[in-house]
Amino acid sequence: MLLRPKVLVDACQSVPHMPVDVRDLDADFLVASSHKMCGPTGVGFLYGKSDILSTMPPFLGGGEMISDVFLDHSTYAEPPSRFEAGTPAIGEVIGLGAAIDYLQGIGMQKIHEYEMELANYLYENLSTVNNIRIYGPKPSKGVDRAALCSFNVKNIHPTDIATFLDQQHGVAIRSGHHCAQPLHRYLGINASARASLHFYNTKEDVDYFIHALNDTVNFFDSFK
Ligand SMILES: Cc1ncc(COP(=O)(O)O)c(C=O)c1O
Repeated sequence: MLLRPKVLVDACQSVPHMPVDVRDLDADFLVASSHKMCGPTGVGFLYGKSDILSTMPPFLGGGEMISDVFLDHSTYAEPPSRFEAGTPAIGEVIGLGAAIDYLQGIGMQKIHEYEMELANYLYENLSTVNNIRIYGPKPSKGVDRAALCSFNVKNIHPTDIATFLDQQHGVAIRSGHHCAQPLHRYLGINASARASLHFYNTKEDVDYFIHALNDTVNFFDSFK
């Protein structure tokens, strides 16, 4: 018998930025992380199809996951309790609920459309920086890009760029592998810088970042 592999969607980077419908995706499982969606750290959620979850054994023992306890065996509660052993992270979950209400109050479609506009603006303006290489496709009709750009500037280490931007201009970007070491290896680079936006950013933030980046590039170029 051929078993259909189960699919788990890691939606940590999409749930905070666009409408996500588990039924449309027909995902067996889907996970997301609270602190990427304006919620507290230390909590997230797993969605699973109920018919799959009900066939799965618990992975952890503790209060609430048990149904009946005998000397020689136990029976387990129905999902989701079966997978929620012990005292839950009550405060964090309430915070996550408030974050979800907040995002839904703004509207996920509205957030997505606004971020697409910011993504284009970021890409266009970043392309004007001297000796820059931006990774990934240029945004165009039918090519959606998340509102972020990974990039490198010739002969300047991305960590130097990130540090200078932070210390001199108060702009926080990330540098390193971004949890994508095989991709960096494929691209033939050791690391990259990455500027990321969310719905609370504005075009003025992008303008300030580009100004700060040009100043950073000029600073390091002055030593050549
Ligand atoms: C796509 C993706 N999955 C998982 C994680 C890890 O999430 P957490 O920090 O909540 O464990 C991250 C965080 O960087 C992520 O970007």
